[in-house]
Amino acid sequence: MNATMSSEQTKHFPVMLNQILSIISPQHGGVFIDCTFGGGGYSKAILKYPNTMVFGIDRDNLAREQADQLTKQFPKRFSFLHDKFSNLNKLIKFNLKPKAIIFDLGISSLQLTDNQRGFSFKSKDSLNMQMGFNKYSAYDVVNSLDKKILENIIKILGDEKDGKLIAKKIVSCRKKNPIKTSQELSYIIKGAKKNYGNYKKNPATKTFQAIRIFVNQELTELILGLIEATKLLSNGGILIVVSFHSLEDKIVKYFFNIYSNIIKNPSRYLPVGKNKAGLFELISKKPLVPDEKEISNNIRSRSAKLRYAVRNNNSFFYLDEFKKKFEKYLNIERGKI
Ligand SMILES: C[S@@+](CC[C@H](N)C(=O)[O-])C[C@H]1O[C@@H](n2cnc3c(N)ncnc32)[C@H](O)[C@@H]1O
Repeated sequence: MNATMSSEQTKHFPVMLNQILSIISPQHGGVFIDCTFGGGGYSKAILKYPNTMVFGIDRDNLAREQADQLTKQFPKRFSFLHDKFSNLNKLIKFNLKPKAIIFDLGISSLQLTDNQRGFSFKSKDSLNMQMGFNKYSAYDVVNSLDKKILENIIKILGDEKDGKLIAKKIVSCRKKNPIKTSQELSYIIKGAKKNYGNYKKNPATKTFQAIRIFVNQELTELILGLIEATKLLSNGGILIVVSFHSLEDKIVKYFFNIYSNIIKNPSRYLPVGKNKAGLFELISKKPLVPDEKEISNNIRSRSAKLRYAVRNNNSFFYLDEFKKKFEKYLNIERGKI
């Protein structure tokens, strides 16, 4: 589970901020879209440079409150859209020509440490896990979904091999009483998992991740968000994605690989002309990762992977093969499997 800011300290730790600033060079000005505003770490850092303009987006109310302060501080240079980033196309009317569009995926520490949201295992409040603009909550998912669907969500979105056992246990417990809190759910998961004493992480980590992803349709959002960002970028615009778990990274990596021409370190195994219709120039096939200093300051940054590419001059075409490739996830998040 990711969080960008340390909960132990009030200071914000936007993940991989230095690398991001060196990629987007805000000192030369420009328009930037921060698709996951959160506590505003990236937006604030960019706005320190005078000739910049930032559009922040976040689906969360808490982020909106943070953003309101920034709007007051920079009325001409900062605007906020309280929405899901799959609705990025709402910005098209401004004809922005953004220099960079940035995604820092997952949840923030503000969300994680807000007990009423139920993102944390320890939360004794309602089992919610909604980031904003949701159709259902974690409570609905855990207490009403069919056992087989629940099993698939846990197995596939959580990469949890004990998905079947956990789904079975959840269904048998909810028959007695509805499962009301995150703490209750984490005890139930612990009880279902074999040898849970051997786990380094909390044994409920993967199931919580799966339920959170499902509740917020995070993979659908990522897939649609990447497509919309590609539409919005013009020649030279940079697309940056910081991801925190393997499902997200798999999607981002595939996206950049199939829609890019590699410009540095081209693989000699790549057939020439394979990506004639490329939409991006990929700077490196390998992701950037946080350095040791950052990881020691902010342990939650340890799983971060940053991938980025530069939009080229080719016209946008609808990215059907990309959606097709990840149809399984789109269907699971629709509750179809
Ligand atoms: C990891 S935090 C970002 C932290 C931010 N970079 C900072 O420095 O403070 C992720 C934020 O993205 C938001 N978010 C996640 N998925 C979203 C989506 N599909 N649309 C809009 N916001 C989203 C979450 O509500 C959360 O506030």
